[in-house]
Amino acid sequence: MDVCKLSFLSFLPFVFLSIAVVATGDELQTFIVHVQQQESHLVATADDRKAWYQTFLPEDGRMLHAYHHVTSGFAARLTQQELDAVSAMPGFVSAVPDQLHTLQTTHTPQFLGLGAPAPPPTHGNRGSSSYGGAGAGAGVIVGVIDTGVFPDHPSFSDAGMPPPPAKWKGRCDFNGGSVCNNKLIGARTFIANATNSSSSSYGQPLPPVDKVGHGTHTASTAAGAVVPGAHVLGQGLGVGAGIAPRAHVAVYKVCPNDSCAVSDILAGIDASVADGCDVISISIGSPPVPFHKNPVAIAALGATEKGVFVSMAAGNAGPNVSSVINDAPWILTVAASTMDRSIRTTVRLGNGLHFHGESLYQPNVNNSPNTFYPLVYAGASGKPFAELCGNGSLDGLDVRGKIVVCEFGAGPNLTITRITKGAVVQSAGGVGMILPNHFVQGYTTLAEAHVLPASHVDFVAGAAIMAYINSTANPVAQILPRGTILGTTPAPAMAFFSSRGPSIQSPGILKPDITGPGVNVLAAWPFQVGPPSAAPFFSGPTFNIISGTSMSTPHLSGVAAFIKSRHPNWSPAAIKSAIMTTADITDRSGNPILDEQQKPANFFVTGTGHVNPEKAAHPGLVYDIAPCDYIGYLCGMYTSQEVSVIARRPVNCSTVTVIPEHQLNYPSISVTFPQAYNSTTPVLVKRTAKNVGKVPSEYYAAVDMLDTTVTVRVFPSTLQFTEVNQEKDFTVVVWPGQGGARVVQGAVRWVSERHTVRSPVSITFA
Ligand SMILES: *[C@@H]1O[C@H](CO)[C@@H](O)[C@H](O)[C@H]1NC(C)=O
Ligand SMILES: *[C@@H]1O[C@H](CO)[C@@H](O)[C@H](O)[C@H]1NC(C)=O
Ligand SMILES: *[C@@H]1O[C@H](CO)[C@@H](O)[C@H](O)[C@H]1NC(C)=O
Ligand SMILES: *[C@@H]1O[C@H](CO)[C@@H](O)[C@H](O)[C@H]1NC(C)=O
Ligand SMILES: *[C@@H]1O[C@H](CO)[C@@H](O)[C@H](O)[C@H]1NC(C)=O
Ligand SMILES: *[C@@H]1O[C@H](CO)[C@@H](O)[C@H](O)[C@H]1NC(C)=O
Ligand SMILES: *[C@@H]1O[C@H](CO)[C@@H](O)[C@H](O)[C@H]1NC(C)=O
Ligand SMILES: *[C@@H]1O[C@H](CO)[C@@H](O)[C@H](O)[C@H]1NC(C)=O
Ligand SMILES: *[C@@H]1O[C@H](CO)[C@@H](O)[C@H](O)[C@H]1NC(C)=O
Repeated sequence: MDVCKLSFLSFLPFVFLSIAVVATGDELQTFIVHVQQQESHLVATADDRKAWYQTFLPEDGRMLHAYHHVTSGFAARLTQQELDAVSAMPGFVSAVPDQLHTLQTTHTPQFLGLGAPAPPPTHGNRGSSSYGGAGAGAGVIVGVIDTGVFPDHPSFSDAGMPPPPAKWKGRCDFNGGSVCNNKLIGARTFIANATNSSSSSYGQPLPPVDKVGHGTHTASTAAGAVVPGAHVLGQGLGVGAGIAPRAHVAVYKVCPNDSCAVSDILAGIDASVADGCDVISISIGSPPVPFHKNPVAIAALGATEKGVFVSMAAGNAGPNVSSVINDAPWILTVAASTMDRSIRTTVRLGNGLHFHGESLYQPNVNNSPNTFYPLVYAGASGKPFAELCGNGSLDGLDVRGKIVVCEFGAGPNLTITRITKGAVVQSAGGVGMILPNHFVQGYTTLAEAHVLPASHVDFVAGAAIMAYINSTANPVAQILPRGTILGTTPAPAMAFFSSRGPSIQSPGILKPDITGPGVNVLAAWPFQVGPPSAAPFFSGPTFNIISGTSMSTPHLSGVAAFIKSRHPNWSPAAIKSAIMTTADITDRSGNPILDEQQKPANFFVTGTGHVNPEKAAHPGLVYDIAPCDYIGYLCGMYTSQEVSVIARRPVNCSTVTVIPEHQLNYPSISVTFPQAYNSTTPVLVKRTAKNVGKVPSEYYAAVDMLDTTVTVRVFPSTLQFTEVNQEKDFTVVVWPGQGGARVVQGAVRWVSERHTVRSPVSITFA
């Protein structure tokens, strides 16, 4: 697989590929323009390239970003008429209007539409300290494409860190310059539009300072230093540390807030690759589109071709099916699950029933065990959407001195955050909030920094609380602080919000790939959270607990750094294979990983399972993919012109060996049969395993397939390796059978004395 059998061709004429026309007339709009060099005009240096890009533009000052490494082209402000002129020029390939993508935390209601989740303990206890151990990630550089960083946090202290590797070419753009160190080795801003408008530094680019918190949280999760005594509002107390605490961090600020322009994301990826990052972590996304219309997927392929590992969030649009984003096969697509920690608050009702929920803010106010408060349902006023406790919705309902039940959900305008609900209750005079799930959120609960005593409870508790309110004229309740509870079960369990497969763009690739901690994750934060009144009681470095596939993604970026450090020469695909084939398919109790309804989760939820970093460092075998194989795969899906856009160079698919989706040498297997398939002809799935373990070694094939309507066999049934990096081909044969379920899932395992190399097999009758 190491040898690229394909050759790229001479320069093709391009058909005008695209453009969703949005602008009219002479309004300036930002476009990402892909161009390709002509034989008559080859450029050598970055300056030459930029000058050449400039020739496409009507005047100076229009170019926002010139891309050099992972995209061939630029972002520029153009009118529609000007774009028409640009698209007629030799070398033009395609153009897409700039778009906004969103951060994948659950407090981004725009994307989620349901509400947000809270975080688990990376920093804090279980999460990180069990991953990797001392020295994890040494010599590796993790690039974090996000909202910037709060550099003065002890999570970015460089105590004991060596200088960055010699290949590092990046820089540090904080005003004054000297903030970076041997941990935080680079920080730059790529927000084309945003310049500082304060009078002292008008027109200067924005410093890469994180005003949001998201980038500080994700960067410290991936590779933060060890910080003893980390906690949020006294909860989750423990040692904070990133997954790869010895790795170096470089941050690329591309988001001023929850919204990130694609043109800026590309600039950040381009720079991170040029600077020498080994792993790129991107907790940003938007609904999926075909790869040739997705500039971020294109840039991710460019990074992968240069040996850079890219991990991205699977999205927060679950539990809807086929909601997975960032689903190209060269990307590690990361789902989110819980940890075994609860930041518990318990709701006790006047009828004696009690229910455990979660909240981060747990004041020890006059909450004596005997004090009950009147309980009122916010929807009781009958006003539309009042049950969501949006600002103004409680007018006309007397909630003074009462505990208010506010339903989960961001409302039709997707603007009502869960923290806002508590603030609305408080400003209306309420003393507490109960936030019950709807059925779809199931048992996933979030510990968040509310401004008043609160409890986020699961949907079963929610229904019981509502029934109690209905059952009595004077319902009462109390919310009891219970602190941080470790060892809760089931764990890990999938979060309701974690986006699900199958992938719409490429159903022959099983997505998401993997799950990691993404619920109630504790990591560094730029400022104190919770009510301002609590601040005086807590000092020291600030942390926050939040949730989302944004949070699980940097865990996996840290794991990739950890593996890269142990195996510097492994390709991104080999690292990914190691992570995927060693994942845990059971939870801490040895039971199948459950979903938010506490039912066994299928592979469209978990991917290959829950990441097991120690095992991933010793996978035994890997499924490697050479960059050119992706071109053969893409030629099976798209036209030559479309593939050329993705490949950033001319590709004539008629001269390329086409690789059907399921034949790409992927660590998992997804086969789709037409619904009415009643032939006895099997599908043959080919794979090539590379031995990265000790030799000699012998592996035996095992097939786990509970559904007997489908038959799966592996040929040959043993693989013997006598050399390191030796490759062996095998074939998985799938007979569809008849009358079975619509989706059948199982696994093929290669088992040796030391290793189990597991590939999930998902068979869909479409
Ligand atoms: C950049 O600024 C222009 C005009 O000020 C605005 O129309 C455009 O939406 C901005 N682009 C981004 C990505 O913020
Ligand atoms: C603008 O620059 C000033 C002074 O350097 C700084 O204090 C301020 O935070 C900057 N504004 C933004 C939006 O970054
Ligand atoms: C995010 O920042 C951009 C650029 O500064 C600004 O135009 C936009 O209004 C902001 N969006 C939100 C939701 O604050
Ligand atoms: C899930 O699908 C339902 C029904 O199509 C839709 O109303 C809802 O907005 C979707 N949820 C998300 C988070 O996209
Ligand atoms: C949604 O936005 C519209 C327009 O701004 C506003 O009239 C309406 O009250 C909002 N609805 C809710 C539930 O916030
Ligand atoms: C509600 O809206 C008013 C007016 O816009 C604002 O002053 C107030 O801070 C908001 N309250 C909350 C809790 O967000
Ligand atoms: C409570 O009563 C309301 C209105 O009477 C009804 O719509 C709702 O279904 C009831 N809820 C429960 C859990 O009984
Ligand atoms: C692509 O390759 C085929 C086979 O070599 C050739 O016939 C065809 O002309 C090529 N297409 C282009 C656009 O060069
Ligand atoms: C199944 O096979 C039978 C016999 O080969 C054929 O007549 C029938 O049309 C097939 N059914 C479908 C749904 O293709």
